[in-house]
Amino acid sequence: MARVIAFVNQKGGVGKTTNTVNLAAIAGQALGIRSGQSQVLVVSTDPQASAVWWSDRVDEEQLPFDFHQCHDRPEDLARLKLLEQYEYVFVDSPGNIEDEKILSATLDSTDEVVVPLPPEAMAYQPTKRTIEQVLEPRGIPYRVLISDWDPRDGTVDLEQTQEYVDNHNWPRLMTVVRHYKIHTRASAEGQVCTQYPKGRIALEAREDFFRLAMELGIGGRPLPRQNRKQATERGTV
Ligand SMILES: Nc1ncnc2c1ncn2[C@@H]1O[C@H](COP(=O)(O)OP(=O)(O)OP(=O)(O)O)[C@@H](O)[C@H]1O
Ligand SMILES: [Mg+2]
Repeated sequence: MARVIAFVNQKGGVGKTTNTVNLAAIAGQALGIRSGQSQVLVVSTDPQASAVWWSDRVDEEQLPFDFHQCHDRPEDLARLKLLEQYEYVFVDSPGNIEDEKILSATLDSTDEVVVPLPPEAMAYQPTKRTIEQVLEPRGIPYRVLISDWDPRDGTVDLEQTQEYVDNHNWPRLMTVVRHYKIHTRASAEGQVCTQYPKGRIALEAREDFFRLAMELGIGGRPLPRQNRKQATERGTV
């Protein structure tokens, strides 16, 4: 069974697509290919299909994940967890989730949700609505990810946003995804973060997604299924 992680926030432009695609790239690269197939799938429920548009522009040979558009196919979403060939499925959702059927189908098949939140007050209320009116009533595990923080702006907005999240007792990821121009340009250039050219900035930019993957417990080659039980019995996992 695949582990399904969805990026959800009813506020548009908070980084759902950017974080989905780059985290999927890190996971896909870490897990590699099994039986000639990637072990990571990106699913977009956004009618604008940004994640698919982006992935489609990447050289097929270098794209470490598969992708699928299903904004009008709730029946596909219902099957996500059952996909045997994938270890991880990352779901990119739209900013304005109007289609109740799609929203329910996404959340019903999701193991956990990451709620991206940029460090700006304008994003607070929509984020609060997403958490309190969409996620919490359904009892879906979620964590807030502060992302698109530009260190050149200083730490005031970051600290204020961390405090806002903590004051609401919302679980918060320790990783902060920083703002880098290379991320903004990547979709137009048909790149995911695992393809960034060599260099200090590219390394730093990619590092945040490595951290995020580690914090979410993603990556590393999973044990073959038949070995998992033995390893559990030995207490090694
Ligand atoms: N860490 C980052 N560094 C630089 N630019 C970023 C970062 N995160 C997001 N962006 C930029 O911010 C804009 C919005 O990001 P993105 O499209 O990922 O948000 P979204 O939540 O998917 O938006 P929508 O709700 O419209 O689908 C894009 O131009 C993207 O390139
Ligand atoms: Mg998007």
